[in-house]
Amino acid sequence: MRVRHTRKVVGAIAGMLMLGAIGFAMCDGQGERRRPGAADSAPVSGQRIGQARCGACHGPAGEGRPGFAPPLTPITSRLAAAPGGRDYLIDFMLYGLRGEVEIDGTRHRGSHPSFAELSDEEIAAVLNGLIEQSGDRAFQGAEVAARRSQPRSGEEVRRNRPPLDAP
Ligand code: HEC
Repeated sequence: MRVRHTRKVVGAIAGMLMLGAIGFAMCDGQGERRRPGAADSAPVSGQRIGQARCGACHGPAGEGRPGFAPPLTPITSRLAAAPGGRDYLIDFMLYGLRGEVEIDGTRHRGSHPSFAELSDEEIAAVLNGLIEQSGDRAFQGAEVAARRSQPRSGEEVRRNRPPLDAP
């Protein structure tokens, strides 16, 4: 009798621990991925905006659609690291892109939508969610505001695209 009771208690404790672990894993999965120094002060979630705004073309997790749209994190990280790339990415978000670009051997013709309707902080947060943990400085809303005050066309954005090295 005693032994059975002890087993029950042990079983109950083990069950609670397992439930706790599952609960923790679920919370973890739903939480924001945070990089130190990036978007920590931003009150908006770049990841959530990105899923809503970019997912239809770049895939729900930004994984890209072969032959159509590139995987988001690698191309954004490479552009951010290239000379002039930070300004280019902000302009790309604000004014879109018009004309032909070649990304790793695939030629893309057409136009990329702009996201000027997002706030400066939201644009910074989307970009921060995409630059890898490369030690790059986080984008700030103020940088976006500065470029928003210098409107340009999608063609001009394309002319300012930095050349990229092979991945
Ligand atoms: C309507 C479809 C569509 C949507 C929506 C979209 N993209 Fe794209 N994206 C593309 C395509 C197609 C390309 C390939 C280049 C091109 O055709 O302009 C691309 C290319 C890019 C590039 C590479 C640009 C370069 O110069 O190499 C980046 C960065 C990018 N997208 C970011 C984003 C982000 C961030 C969002 C959401 C805020 C987004 N895109 C939403 C279709 C889309």
